[in-house]
Amino acid sequence: VAPLRVGVAGLGTVGAGLLKLLRDNAEVVAARAGRPVEVAAVSARDRGRDRGFDLRGVRWHDDPVALAADPDVDAVVELIGGSEGPARRLVEASLRAGRPVVTANKALLAVHGAALAEVAAAKGVPLAFEAAVAGGIPAIKALREGLAANRIGRVAGILNGTCNYILTTMREGKRGFAEVLAEAQRLGYAEADPSFDIDGVDAAHKLAILAALCFGRPVDFAAVHVEGIRDVSALDIALAEELGYRIKLLGIASQAGDGGVSARVHPCMVPAASPIAHVEGVFNAVVAEGDFAGRLVLEGRGAGAGPTASAVAADLIDLARGRHAPVWGADSSLGGSAPALPMERH
Ligand code: NDP
Ligand code: HSE
Repeated sequence: VAPLRVGVAGLGTVGAGLLKLLRDNAEVVAARAGRPVEVAAVSARDRGRDRGFDLRGVRWHDDPVALAADPDVDAVVELIGGSEGPARRLVEASLRAGRPVVTANKALLAVHGAALAEVAAAKGVPLAFEAAVAGGIPAIKALREGLAANRIGRVAGILNGTCNYILTTMREGKRGFAEVLAEAQRLGYAEADPSFDIDGVDAAHKLAILAALCFGRPVDFAAVHVEGIRDVSALDIALAEELGYRIKLLGIASQAGDGGVSARVHPCMVPAASPIAHVEGVFNAVVAEGDFAGRLVLEGRGAGAGPTASAVAADLIDLARGRHAPVWGADSSLGGSAPALPMERH
């Protein structure tokens, strides 16, 4: 059987995690995909860096956008990051060339998802992004497929592993903010620019994607209310604890009465006895309310090489099987041409 030949752009935390998974779990992946999934080409900035992999026989591109035209690549995996620059150019060029794309890049999707969905729909090409929201939790699949028959009124959750790791570790009284953030960076949880994590921007990117998916329309990312954890002190956490609460950075999106959407990210005091208070460390939670299914709660590791690679590989298995969903919802006509929903400001 012909393998699915992938071109991987970005060999950092997630890219290296993906190569390890495809090597170590090659048999599992091939069995589930119905054919082998092979890395045919890669791109990163530093060609000379030892990444702990044997890349002999794998084509190297200094320019990641070249993957879009590599004749030996069936599907492109974008793991560079950033809403502009090479990541955006690669994803656009690949879709325009009719080449399926898998990406973990929530910044790109939150800002340009509607336009990219339009290109993908026009070309009839899959654009898959399970890894972009909540790391190893199959949130996209569960919401899009599992709740396909529901009207979803609200979607919320703990959407940033770095912040949850910092808040948890500070509450345990072990270390201070700066030290825990440095640790989260070492563990590969944080974004290249960690202010995206601690200022709530990364959680807002994910919330915008979830809202678009759940409410069936692109959302205006610029209108999401965003507040991070930069100003949450050890004293705030201790006082909340004394009152029977824990501080969590939550993202919450709901349908507003006027037909728009309310979307906000900010620290919240949650009762210490509530299930969400016990989602600790790098774990994320996604909570959705369907009109027939009721409340759905998903919990799992929200960041890091293994969980994120697992989500990317799940998308590759779907591609290899020829299974792919339209970008935002059950109705592919909702791609990028629908107007963005008005967002309520807070
Ligand atoms: P890293 O910073 O660890 O890796 C980025 C990779 O991109 C590096 O290999 C780097 O090359 C490469 N790169 C950067 N610029 C260029 C360029 N101009 N041309 C070619 N290659 C380039 O990031 P992560 O792996 O952590 O994240 C990748 C993506 O996955 C991001 O979109 C991120 O938001 C997303 N993500 C990350 C998660 C995580 O837990 N880390 C979880 C979920 C999503 P070099 O190695 O040579 O410097
Ligand atoms: N920096 C992100 C986080 C990575 O900490 O949640 C996962 O998207």
